[in-house]
Amino acid sequence: MTPPEYSPSAEQNKQPILDKLLQLLPAHGAALEIASGTGQHAAWFASHLPGWTWQPTEAQLTALSSIRAHVAQAGLHNVREPLLLDVCADQWLPTRPGTTEPTRFDLIFCANMLHISPKETGAALMRGSARHLAPGGVLVTYGPYFENAVATAKSNLAFDESLRARNPAWGVRLREDLEHVAETFGLHLAERHPMPANNLLLVWSATPVNHPTTSLYL
Ligand SMILES: C[S@@+](CC[C@H](N)C(=O)[O-])C[C@H]1O[C@@H](n2cnc3c(N)ncnc32)[C@H](O)[C@@H]1O
Repeated sequence: MTPPEYSPSAEQNKQPILDKLLQLLPAHGAALEIASGTGQHAAWFASHLPGWTWQPTEAQLTALSSIRAHVAQAGLHNVREPLLLDVCADQWLPTRPGTTEPTRFDLIFCANMLHISPKETGAALMRGSARHLAPGGVLVTYGPYFENAVATAKSNLAFDESLRARNPAWGVRLREDLEHVAETFGLHLAERHPMPANNLLLVWSATPVNHPTTSLYL
């Protein structure tokens, strides 16, 4: 088997993210991970959330072998075979067997993708999540964001510059822009959690029908 790849940042942030997921999530559920990268998050979270099934996905075919390797190394039985998934695709996953209904998940998790991809992936993530979230389910995004009313950390400004130098279509996203896009797909920002190294963990859920959009910032 191909050896697993390692991301130092995923190694650093996997425990702080898991701590939040353990507070947020019920004991059982089904998770869809977008942009699983090396597979470190999938293996770590699935091993500490034994009541959950975890579906890793990646846009890059070459990443799937590393995800498999991390899962095999951890000896996990609650992680499904990783799938190729580009959030910009019209259809993310096959429909539920024998139906035209989308497969639904209690958690959709996406870390560190929005700034390392064109801005359109934000809308694509919200559109697909609105389609695939089970009733009461949440989308959790993690990464650096700019915010209108919060002084920007120097490290995030420098990171943004370095991203744009690598690819002009990349860059740290404005949280309020993402909120606006989310609302067009019937999702709203329900929780905002500051995380180490000037990152945020954002919890998005379906906007209740007949209720004005409200955001709860913790
Ligand atoms: C910085 S890595 C983050 C990986 C992992 N989530 C983590 O936090 O370590 C960004 C990932 O986003 C994925 N990605 C970029 N564009 C994507 C798209 N359109 N759909 C799905 N994944 C995408 C890349 O393939 C890459 O693995």
